Amino acid sequence: MGMTSIDVQIILCLVLLLFTQNLKADLNRNCIENERDALLGFKHVIADPSDKLKSWVGEDCCSWQGITCNSSNGHVTKLELRGIGSRYSGVNECEDSCLGGQISHSLINLTHLNYLDLSVNNFSEIGIPEFLGSFKMLEYLNLSQAEFIGDVPPYTGNISRLKYLDLSYNSELTVDSLSFVSGLTSLEYLDLSGLNLSMADDLLHSLNMTPSLMELHLSSCSLNVFPEFFHVNITNIQHLDLSGNLLQGHLPSEVGNLKFLEVLLLQDNELDGELPVTLMNSLCNLRELNLGKNSFGGEVWGIIDNSSGCVSAGLQALDLSNNNFKGVIPESLGEFTSLEYLYLYQNSFEGPIPEAIGRLLNLRELSLYNNLFNGTIPASLGQLSKIEILDFNSNKLTGIVSEVHFSKLESLSRLAMYGNPLVFDIDSTWVAPFQLQSVYLSSCKLGPKFPQWLRGQTHNSLQLLDLYNTSISDGIPDWFENISSNIQWLDLSHNQIRKSLPKFGTPSTPVFPRVIYLNSNKFEGPFTSFPEDVEVLDISNNLLSGEIPQTIAATMPQLSFFSLSENNLSGGIPSSVCNLTGLSYVDLSKNQLSGAIPECWQEIEFLNVLDLAYNELSGKIPVSLGSLHNLGSLHLERNNLEGRIPTSLGNLTNLLTLDLSENAFTGTFPSWINENLSSLAILSLHSNMLKGEIPIQLCGVTSLRILNLANNMLTGKVPNCFGNFTSMIVEDPDFVDFWLSSFSFPVLFQMPGRYNAYQDHVLTYIKGRALVYSKTIQFLFSIDLSENHFFGNLPDEIVNLKLVQNLNFSGNKFMGNIVSDIGNMEALESLDFSRNELSGSIPVSISNLNFLSYLNLSFNNLSGSIPHGNQLQTLNDKSIYIGNDGLCGFPLQSCQTEPELLEPGQRDENAKDESEMHWFYYGSGVGFMTGLLVVCSSLYFKHSWRRAWFRLVDGIYDKLYVIVAVKMNKLGR
Ligand SMILES: *[C@@H]1O[C@H](CO)[C@@H](O)[C@H](O)[C@H]1NC(C)=O
Ligand SMILES: *[C@@H]1O[C@H](CO)[C@@H](O)[C@H](O)[C@H]1NC(C)=O
Ligand SMILES: *[C@@H]1O[C@H](CO)[C@@H](O)[C@H](O)[C@H]1NC(C)=O
Repeated sequence: MGMTSIDVQIILCLVLLLFTQNLKADLNRNCIENERDALLGFKHVIADPSDKLKSWVGEDCCSWQGITCNSSNGHVTKLELRGIGSRYSGVNECEDSCLGGQISHSLINLTHLNYLDLSVNNFSEIGIPEFLGSFKMLEYLNLSQAEFIGDVPPYTGNISRLKYLDLSYNSELTVDSLSFVSGLTSLEYLDLSGLNLSMADDLLHSLNMTPSLMELHLSSCSLNVFPEFFHVNITNIQHLDLSGNLLQGHLPSEVGNLKFLEVLLLQDNELDGELPVTLMNSLCNLRELNLGKNSFGGEVWGIIDNSSGCVSAGLQALDLSNNNFKGVIPESLGEFTSLEYLYLYQNSFEGPIPEAIGRLLNLRELSLYNNLFNGTIPASLGQLSKIEILDFNSNKLTGIVSEVHFSKLESLSRLAMYGNPLVFDIDSTWVAPFQLQSVYLSSCKLGPKFPQWLRGQTHNSLQLLDLYNTSISDGIPDWFENISSNIQWLDLSHNQIRKSLPKFGTPSTPVFPRVIYLNSNKFEGPFTSFPEDVEVLDISNNLLSGEIPQTIAATMPQLSFFSLSENNLSGGIPSSVCNLTGLSYVDLSKNQLSGAIPECWQEIEFLNVLDLAYNELSGKIPVSLGSLHNLGSLHLERNNLEGRIPTSLGNLTNLLTLDLSENAFTGTFPSWINENLSSLAILSLHSNMLKGEIPIQLCGVTSLRILNLANNMLTGKVPNCFGNFTSMIVEDPDFVDFWLSSFSFPVLFQMPGRYNAYQDHVLTYIKGRALVYSKTIQFLFSIDLSENHFFGNLPDEIVNLKLVQNLNFSGNKFMGNIVSDIGNMEALESLDFSRNELSGSIPVSISNLNFLSYLNLSFNNLSGSIPHGNQLQTLNDKSIYIGNDGLCGFPLQSCQTEPELLEPGQRDENAKDESEMHWFYYGSGVGFMTGLLVVCSSLYFKHSWRRAWFRLVDGIYDKLYVIVAVKMNKLGR
């Protein structure tokens, strides 16, 4: 049937009616006066430092910023004054632009308000206004991150229409009860994250009263109500966030009752046990599941495999990271075709990465690091064209990685495979489909050629390139200049890269701070300039030659950490170094640098480490070094420096290490080495020409752990205050922490072979051999006064120094008895009193020294029977006691028979040399751990042998030795 004319008339009438009503509403658009006054009252008392409410003038309040009116009746319905800031950071970032101060009671006249947002502001002087409870129409209330203080007023619960309530991250808000929630019968969305709810006993009861709840955020609420939580009547819930709480126990199978769950966030709790089967076969709507950072365990894949396809197709994000999950990933993983984020890192997953991974074509992030995955990487990986982040590092993946694995990875931005014994074999003509941002491939095998597939990274998105220890033995190709301009962190160290140093492209804007590690390679030729934005530059342990250019300060003004140690650089130290006022670390040691140290250090305020050791520097120590107030470590050993040690060094009150050994310094022992140097742990002045007595002030340096004054011309009696070295009496772990953290270094990883701090070092003669201690330096306690002209009695207080492992007083004129309770020095491993004039008998207590593995008492006037028993039985070398006319007993002749006398002629130089040579080769054959120390040895007082010395490079032997020794020590107690 067609329309009759009457029908048409009726319709026309209706249209007209509607039209006129609209017209009426438009006429009324100017807001209601009473409500405008209410808003002006609000504006009047609020603090608005950035004038956000400047539009709040004139008649029409409906057009003011943040106000919305109902179009038909003109009432204000919406007040939206959210500040600027990030939602979950918990930090209110609005700062000066925040609204604050008071909230006027006049707002109560906005009777039609249904939407109020005052979030991300700074109302740190007031509580949540109680009158908010009078807004009968209110459906949306957002007060998050607004710094409200005090209690949540119970009246909030009267707003029965309220659907959305967000009070999150008001850190000063106290919530003793959640009774306000129980009145909110329409509530669909509740966010109380960041509020401490541990005192709210009625949490579960109150949530039972909110049957419409669909989204609940209780992150970081200090909750420990688990597993009762899943008995609560919230069966309509779609989004549940309980992350960052103190939840303990198993995840109960009741979680399967929440059939509508789409998002379940339980990360960062203390949950454990296996996952309930219901998690995967009942929650068929799940899109996001986050269980990361708990203590869950078991074979999670069994559950996923049994999920009968219910969850798999829809799941977009799965985070199982940081748990104790184990097992092999089944091929059925390929059914999770919607997955975009898969985080399995930090678990004990094992077996191969399934071929089916190539079916997850929506995958954007795949993080598998720190597991036990083994086998080869499946070729299907190359199909993941949306993948941006690939983190495979620190597994047991093996085999070849070729261009097939990357063939379609056009979105890849981060490639991390370090810590797997993977071999990269990529065709040198292959053009990569990606432009990478960060590449972590350290300890994979990439060489011998420099990886050619990096050649195409010319969009300069590359910011991080870590090719540490990747078996490259090529030169750096010319095209490196085209990909390098924005690389902020470059580590090519520990390869055999040859030829000249790399050239860098110029960035459009500086990428400061730039970090470049090229150390431990075979770079040769001169030191060339680096980008002007470089802050950390380490080219140590290469073959660079020529001079350090004067232009260094002008071309790299930002340098802070700078090492050219262990090269073949010659010439002088350019005085322009002193213009690098941001320097904190300079290591030019182990080159052939000559000439004087420039006298210009007063401007480098933050210099922490200055290491110029093992060069051919001459002249005096510049007085201006004494201005480096922050200096922690000063190494000038083994140069040709001479003259007096300047008293200005006494101003270096933060020194931890002062090593001036093996130079030609003259004058008396510096008395400025006193209690002002209150952190000095290492003082090494050995092998100089210092004269005079040890001043009593030295004993003020109670932090000393290693004191080496050997091989000088010091004389007199040793002051009776060595017992004051308290650091050698009781261990001080706080000091060690402070010490080790003093030289921290920018570092990417905590991985074996990578240093995270400047490694301080000291050469010590122990057990008749020279050892460089560095990584284990904090375990060494040593006093060496050997080869001087000291006389008088041995300082008896040394027996209090219970931590000392190495005591060497040999080659002096000490006389009298060996102190009878020497056995108290329970840590002693090496004791040398040889070539003195000691007399009397050897104290019986010496046999208590359980760790003694080197002993030398030869060439004294000792007599009587040699104590026996315990560790002494292993010290069976006659040379230990040789040259003492009156000694008898094992290992010498037994005391009944006449002791064998030495012919006078035997004490000439040759014979002495011979016996020393004997120890040199053999003397270390004693003791229980020395077998590990298959290293160099030399006796420093023989110049000719000094050259035979070589360095034990941070040896694993050295470390093992100390660790074992320390453990044995502990066992011994
Ligand atoms: C609300 O409006 C009425 C009428 O204009 C006024 O008398 C009253 O003071 C207002 N209330 C507040 C709290 O400002
Ligand atoms: C859950 O709610 C329903 C109706 O809303 C009610 O019948 C039931 O008793 C509630 N269960 C609990 C455990 O409170
Ligand atoms: C991987 O590890 C498992 C044990 O977890 C072992 O049985 C298997 O042989 C390994 N596979 C490869 C390829 O190394």
